[in-house]
Amino acid sequence: MKFFIDTANFNEIHEANALGILDGVTTNPSLIAKEGKPFKETIIAICKEVNGPVSSEVVAIDYEGMLKEGRDYATWAKNIVVKLPTTRDGIKACKQLTSEGIKVNMTLVFSATQALLCAKAGATYCSPFIGRLDDIAQDGMELIREIVVIYENYDYKTEILTASVRHPLHVVQAAMAGSHVATIPAKVIDQMFKHPLTDKGLETFLSDWKKANSK
Ligand code: E4P
Repeated sequence: MKFFIDTANFNEIHEANALGILDGVTTNPSLIAKEGKPFKETIIAICKEVNGPVSSEVVAIDYEGMLKEGRDYATWAKNIVVKLPTTRDGIKACKQLTSEGIKVNMTLVFSATQALLCAKAGATYCSPFIGRLDDIAQDGMELIREIVVIYENYDYKTEILTASVRHPLHVVQAAMAGSHVATIPAKVIDQMFKHPLTDKGLETFLSDWKKANSK
């Protein structure tokens, strides 16, 4: 499974990249706004830092506006992926931008029908938001499992990008379900390393080593 980091914070991206396990980045307007820096400069800097796809989301909600923004973003860097909302206009714009050779990540996916539309429109990525479904007492991971089956049935090339990840168990369950990608916040990446038995075991190894070598 590919690991993307879900942030627009350059330091978080730099640190995750230094681990050598980062495959890409997703941003959204809220994440960009949180950093308080100019949008275009932020995205270009991220694209230079990471050797992998970087999703940059349009803010237009109409077809023509999405095409205009998407075509512009695609000139910023080779690894740009244009992120579009999964609406009627978004699906139509996905089909058009894809036909122009621009990679598209369809965002705000909350149902299997929307995921089918994304695949039919030739999206490179389909992003179901599992945490936000869990928030309204719907099983987000069940949606991932449904989409995996549907995409496999028809050999769709669209990759499932599990988004709105809130904790390490989401990452494990997405991997078990066969999601192609998970986009993970920096905090959750940190949590994935942790196990108390690793810390305890390391402490014991080091103290045993010290005892043996002080004799
Ligand atoms: C990623 O592409 C999404 O924008 C992101 O995962 C949304 O996460 P949230 O539901 O925690 O805001």
